[in-house]
Amino acid sequence: MSPFSSWVQLLSLLPLLLLPTALLLLPAARRLPPANPSAAASSPALPTLFPHGSTLKRPERNKLEEELSRARSAIRRAGASSPASRRNFSGVFPLPRVYRNPAAFYRSYVEMERRFKVYVYEEGEPPLVHEGPCKNIYTTEGRFIAEMEALPLAAAAASAAGGVRTADPRRAHAFFLPFSVAQLVRYVYRPLSYDHAPIRRFVSDYVAVVAAKHPFWNRSAGADHFMLSCHDWGPHASRAHPSLYGSAIRALCNANTSEGFRPRKDVSIPEINLVTGELPPMPPPPPPQSPNSTSTSSRPLLAFFAGGLHGPIRPILLHHWKNRDPDLAVYEYLPAGAGDYFSYMRRSRFCLCPSGYEVASPRVVEAIYSGCIPAIISEGYVLPFSDVLRWEEFSVTVAVADLPRLKEALAAVPKEEVRRLRAGVRAVRRHFVLNHPPERFDAFYMILHSVWLRRLNIKVTEF
Ligand SMILES: *[C@@H]1O[C@H](CO)[C@@H](O)[C@H](O)[C@H]1NC(C)=O
Ligand SMILES: *[C@@H]1O[C@H](CO)[C@@H](O)[C@H](O)[C@H]1NC(C)=O
Ligand SMILES: *[C@@H]1O[C@H](CO)[C@@H](O)[C@H](O)[C@H]1NC(C)=O
Ligand SMILES: *[C@@H]1O[C@H](CO)[C@@H](O)[C@H](O)[C@H]1NC(C)=O
Repeated sequence: MSPFSSWVQLLSLLPLLLLPTALLLLPAARRLPPANPSAAASSPALPTLFPHGSTLKRPERNKLEEELSRARSAIRRAGASSPASRRNFSGVFPLPRVYRNPAAFYRSYVEMERRFKVYVYEEGEPPLVHEGPCKNIYTTEGRFIAEMEALPLAAAAASAAGGVRTADPRRAHAFFLPFSVAQLVRYVYRPLSYDHAPIRRFVSDYVAVVAAKHPFWNRSAGADHFMLSCHDWGPHASRAHPSLYGSAIRALCNANTSEGFRPRKDVSIPEINLVTGELPPMPPPPPPQSPNSTSTSSRPLLAFFAGGLHGPIRPILLHHWKNRDPDLAVYEYLPAGAGDYFSYMRRSRFCLCPSGYEVASPRVVEAIYSGCIPAIISEGYVLPFSDVLRWEEFSVTVAVADLPRLKEALAAVPKEEVRRLRAGVRAVRRHFVLNHPPERFDAFYMILHSVWLRRLNIKVTEF
């Protein structure tokens, strides 16, 4: 039995991913009741519900839903096509095995590019809304907000593929709430008070303003809206508003199923630590291994970890392995003079990624950048983009209970498998890289694609 059978446990958290298409798609979209059933029953009431949208007639909303329904069928068809009839993806996806269903993913991605329109709410002021930290561990949050706001508006672009962002909320399939939890923690939270109330008040007021000024929130109880946060407190902040928590799409780094993360509606995003904020993120990709190099020659270390003791898992890891074994470089603080953090990653076959205060760790992405196989040690973590990526093709998972025999488990992975996993790491790297402006299949568009898949899972009904 593989030492990493806990993959099965992890996947069992994601029943949807095991659908025949192996892509997060439901045969019939979840139909949402109107938010206010009595209003729905009494009359169509369109003029009052669409104060600046009296031109938005019911057929237009239906048109949006019809587009989505065409996209769903196209994706399902592509996903169900026989392997022989599938297009050769070597141009787009050099290593198709890292995807659950490359044909369905490719189709879905192209449908997103062709059709998906997102409206970004204008309410609110910087620094709490419309901007976020663009360096250090909350980078993903700040950069996503910045890039979303910088996207050219589709209305201004001539072609249909002119962009994902629209200036016209009536043409939008999804709505982005561009507040930053990291900025709220920085500007609204009183340090050491452990009092989340001011943050929650802001979030709940923000949703209330958006719901009062526009018809869109109430129409779906927020289900076609999304927020994004890389802060550990992102999940707490989202609890400030019951529908934000319960029906909106929450894109979170801290994708902890024990804290209410629901893979069917929420999106796990990678934590990317840009120390200087520079793009593209360092370090440069390692040179590809020569085909006959043994896995040990260029990467003498079996595994590497250096980091603080926070959270429940790391103390166990350090207890068993700190300064224990020359093959396992496990430190709380890097020893002086033995090279920097990334040089360790580049010299190691496995990079240990134990959860800290939150389930996500920037180490996963750092390992991928360094060509090192992530060894994920976590409980209840839904991995980023696991709706389309086969993490078992480029990472391993170690159960916390197996930490005492960590060396044995990692050393038991056959050389051939190590090479395979490392090729997988190289192939998925581009999905974890941030670019400015964003590029096809990079981290920004992968996040957006995850939102698109969640949006495809619902159907907003008109009344
Ligand atoms: C896919 O295309 C590449 C190059 O275009 C070719 O080398 C490869 O053999 C093709 N694979 C299949 C399965 O057709
Ligand atoms: C949406 O619902 C809230 C709460 O019921 C209400 O205060 C608000 O006015 C509604 N918004 C619109 C645009 O009708
Ligand atoms: C492959 O291995 C052989 C024998 O060990 C060596 O002579 C050769 O240089 C290696 N090739 C590469 C590309 O490293
Ligand atoms: C996930 O959430 C649970 C419940 O709040 C918590 O006990 C656990 O420590 C969290 N996991 C991590 C790794 O933070």
